[in-house]
Amino acid sequence: MTTTPSPASYRTLSAADMAEVDQVIHRRLSSQVALVNQISHYIVNAGGKRVRPMLLLLVARALGSDSAERHELAAVVEFIHTATLLHDDVVDESDLRRGRKTANAMFGNAASVLVGDFLYSRAFQMMVSTNRLRVMEVLADATNVIAEGEVLQLMNMHDPDISVADYLRVIEYKTAKLFEASARLGALITDAAPDVEEACAAYGRALGTAFQLIDDLLDYEGSTEALGKNIGDDLREGKPTLPLLAAMERGTPEQRELIRNAIIHGEVDRMPEIVAVVKATGALEVTREAAQQQAEAAKQCLDLLPPSEFREALLQLTFDSIHRSS
Ligand code: IPE
Ligand code: IPE
Ligand code: MG
Ligand code: MG
Repeated sequence: MTTTPSPASYRTLSAADMAEVDQVIHRRLSSQVALVNQISHYIVNAGGKRVRPMLLLLVARALGSDSAERHELAAVVEFIHTATLLHDDVVDESDLRRGRKTANAMFGNAASVLVGDFLYSRAFQMMVSTNRLRVMEVLADATNVIAEGEVLQLMNMHDPDISVADYLRVIEYKTAKLFEASARLGALITDAAPDVEEACAAYGRALGTAFQLIDDLLDYEGSTEALGKNIGDDLREGKPTLPLLAAMERGTPEQRELIRNAIIHGEVDRMPEIVAVVKATGALEVTREAAQQQAEAAKQCLDLLPPSEFREALLQLTFDSIHRSS
């Protein structure tokens, strides 16, 4: 009989590590400039799942790390993630994040972008302190690719003719790359063998892809309350994500036309009709199936890690990333 992994246990296992990371985060947030402190604490104190630092820590522990630099680097990846969220919410014109008004809704676009820059550059100050050239290389590359991903996504906006491959490229760049970097750093700081480091990187990449596929799914079938962000934002912006691409591929000519127009014009007033088509065509199952395939691929990468409770925890993290509502 297969048992369902308990979602809480990897959190319990890494609770002490995560408490350390929290301390690093708060210590490193401080600035002489009041508005920087205000906005950065505003978004950090709203919480977030902290998946990327967790990933880095679990990989490091699975490979036997006991060095303090894992906490610093876990905070670095969370800062980079938080900076991307500050920028992303400006670009996406979102007004709800982590159950609160977004920083752009509270403090304005300019302040959000600038504090995002503060967090990026603080992350770079912190990574330099590890004195490892490879760490800096991995994070510099990841940050650059994330920026490319967000620009690529901007270019795809309101374009109903983009392919699934184009869409997957955006996901790889904007989301999977930071998951990949987090897992790779966990391996790097243990001086893991190159094949183990690559397996960890591949694990993070596949996990990140699954994670974003589910995020895109939840934008159609999730609840605003559980997610802490407004569902339907992707449609409002005309974002051609897999739920819409699959619905166009599988729908009748009329259904296809409806979705095409929705992508082109971001027809939010026809939302109920569009969601009905997305559901009726099985597009949500297609998206969930794609996420499941990535999660399977991710799990296989873990075979190269020695068996341990931390490797088990990574399996649970994988399971949780696709069976989530928040
Ligand atoms: C949101 O990431 C952006 C995506 C890549 C989908 P998370 O879902 O990890 O956001 P928080 O940190 O938990 O708020
Ligand atoms: C993820 O994409 C954004 C980044 C990785 C920067 P989304 O735009 O789907 O993320 P949410 O839904 O706003 O969190
Ligand atoms: Mg967004
Ligand atoms: Mg989203």
